Amino acid sequence: MNKGTVAWESPSNIALIKYWGKKGRQYPCNPSVSMTLKNAVSRTCLSFTERNQEWLTFEFEGKNVGAFENRIQNFLEELKDELSFINDYTFHIKSENTFPHSTGIASSASAMSSLAMCLCSMQEQVTGKKYEKDEFLKKASYIARLGSGSASRSIYGSYATWGKSNAFSKASSDYATPFSKYVHPIFKDYQDFILIVSSEKKKVSSTVGHSLMKHHPFAEARYDQAHDNFERMLGILRSGDLNGFIEVLENEALSLHGLMMNSNPSFTLLKPNTLLAIELIRDYRETTKTPIGFTLDAGPNIHLMFPKNELSVVNKFVDEELKHLLENGRYLKDETGLGPKQIM
Ligand code: DP6
Repeated sequence: MNKGTVAWESPSNIALIKYWGKKGRQYPCNPSVSMTLKNAVSRTCLSFTERNQEWLTFEFEGKNVGAFENRIQNFLEELKDELSFINDYTFHIKSENTFPHSTGIASSASAMSSLAMCLCSMQEQVTGKKYEKDEFLKKASYIARLGSGSASRSIYGSYATWGKSNAFSKASSDYATPFSKYVHPIFKDYQDFILIVSSEKKKVSSTVGHSLMKHHPFAEARYDQAHDNFERMLGILRSGDLNGFIEVLENEALSLHGLMMNSNPSFTLLKPNTLLAIELIRDYRETTKTPIGFTLDAGPNIHLMFPKNELSVVNKFVDEELKHLLENGRYLKDETGLGPKQIM
């Protein structure tokens, strides 16, 4: 086939155990595990024709964004060994996010995973060879990893691990591995409210943050801690231990930001209102015994995580006690999602 169109929708994910530090060809320095989101998704449409002068056009939400186009171009150039047809076609790619503009939500996981799914569908079309479902997902996760490490995990719904570990024999550093079938029912419809403290563009990208781990004085201690937390978190996801979940979740979030603050050069992504909100969340948990916990991405916004049966009390708590700390009082309600969906 020498022309066609494929499109996939793929979600973002929130890491419970963080990937921070990489080596070689986008391999993580420690294992990570994440929950796949439901509402924060990217939709990517890829049209291909026989190769002409132009190799690639890329539009994000109707606009040409140079920085995104360069990243996609580098990504495609690197895939010549994995997808040998890549030089024979011209690509027109359009992508959009369902989550609102400028909310500071990292979109590389959803964008790169949706593009990886498109490339694997395209491969099936141009070669006429269909993959088994598991093989398709494994390949897509491998390709997504090369685009953005965290994107490898978005290929799977519910929960997914990425990075080799003795605690989970199926885990690999090449691609993510689904963990959903081991998960306790309490985590199957877990909630994540994304509290927007600031939507400003980050001063330091994740890619730079990862590279600062190379000569970080605490790098080895961090990787040991991540291995221990990973093993604990998998046990917690199986058993449904909510107190353990909150303890490890918050330890990971604050360790990540600690590593940023004592990197050389140092940087701080937390904002004063992030810390105020954290204090209020901890006080509320202590006084009401509601099992809510927080985590943070590489940014100032808080992911407030809790079981679905606490939805109405948490809604009230956020509206009454946290909203004034948020930019325009804004937060996004999300929860565990099912993973990518083919839309064309
Ligand atoms: C803090 O996957 O965005 O969100 O591989 O350079 O694209 P690249 O980095 P990225 O890093 C994610 C960092 C994190 C933790 C995580 O998602 O595990």
